[in-house]
Amino acid sequence: MARIFSGIQPTGIATLGNYLGALRNWVALQQGADECIYCLVDLHAITTFQDPATLREQTYAMAALLLACGIDPERSVLFHQSAVSAHARLAWIFNCVARMGWLKRMTQFKDKAGKNQEEVSTGLFVYPNLMAADIHAYHATKVPVGDDQLQHIELANDIAERFNRDFGVNFFPRIEPIVLKETARVMSLRDGNKKMSKSDTSDQSRINMTDDADTIAQKIRKAKTDPEPLPDNLAALAERPEARNLLGIFAAVSGESQETILARFAGSGFGPFKSALTEALVAHVEPIGQRTRDYLTDKAELNRILQVGTIKAAAIAEPITKEAERIVGFLPGAA
Ligand code: AMP
Ligand code: TRP
Repeated sequence: MARIFSGIQPTGIATLGNYLGALRNWVALQQGADECIYCLVDLHAITTFQDPATLREQTYAMAALLLACGIDPERSVLFHQSAVSAHARLAWIFNCVARMGWLKRMTQFKDKAGKNQEEVSTGLFVYPNLMAADIHAYHATKVPVGDDQLQHIELANDIAERFNRDFGVNFFPRIEPIVLKETARVMSLRDGNKKMSKSDTSDQSRINMTDDADTIAQKIRKAKTDPEPLPDNLAALAERPEARNLLGIFAAVSGESQETILARFAGSGFGPFKSALTEALVAHVEPIGQRTRDYLTDKAELNRILQVGTIKAAAIAEPITKEAERIVGFLPGAA
């Protein structure tokens, strides 16, 4: 049995990109033999300033959404990162293992910091070390993510290798990303070359998993396309990123192949295609939004679920992290 670990930041509302790129895979992986550990990464969230009351609400909201998507807290471990101190302790050790040069190459840091590198928090810079600690504190070997996280997974492997070499041990295993090819990168509805993101300033650029039917219909109606009719083969979409993105979304939510869908709409404009896409999207997304709102009415139950998850998570991460602390030469603390 292998162990699977993944995380999502409890900031903003999860988008269709989060769902199709990562979350639906988290749900599917529960059916396999591996142990699944899913984490609301609030330590990562505060690498950019979060209003405390909003962070609290969004952590509940993300827990509710994961449950609504089908994460089963009996089968999987679901918890919030800050509740298990192993993450921060191992991250510190990794801060002292990772090299400045490695972190300077991280494209997500460059994207997020932009021209503002002197002003962003130091946490944003060492964020990938914390992500490595999240995974390695569990000796997890499989990590379901969208493709924007692949560079961070490589870094986590570099850190593990360097730790093992520096201390002459074989303690941290190699990890493998699990990426859903077709939807590894769902794009913005306004720009087919930009990732759909919960932090985009335009709400029109994304479908939120809590959008109602009217909002979804309106966003798809306004989604950017091009003036050409739909072609009868996928190759003809190579230079048409917006059309390709909508087709990828359609296939993922309907369960049909992209070819089958194209065959139905070949030669026509985007009108009928968009109506059918809206119908498929609403059928898929709206029940998840409804269940999310239901879970959110009972915060006591959400607290209970997260507390149970925290106990299970700590039981795994604590001995592994203690052993890492022993390997680097720290004296034992209280039992
Ligand atoms: P984040 O929103 O950055 O906390 O990401 C949570 C998970 O969703 C990660 O596994 C990301 O790779 C994935 N993800 C985020 N945005 C997209 C997107 N537009 N397409 C596919 N996967 C995504
Ligand atoms: N960095 C990831 C993101 O922004 C979230 C994350 C944090 C994560 N720790 C993780 C994902 C560990 C996988 C494994 O999407």
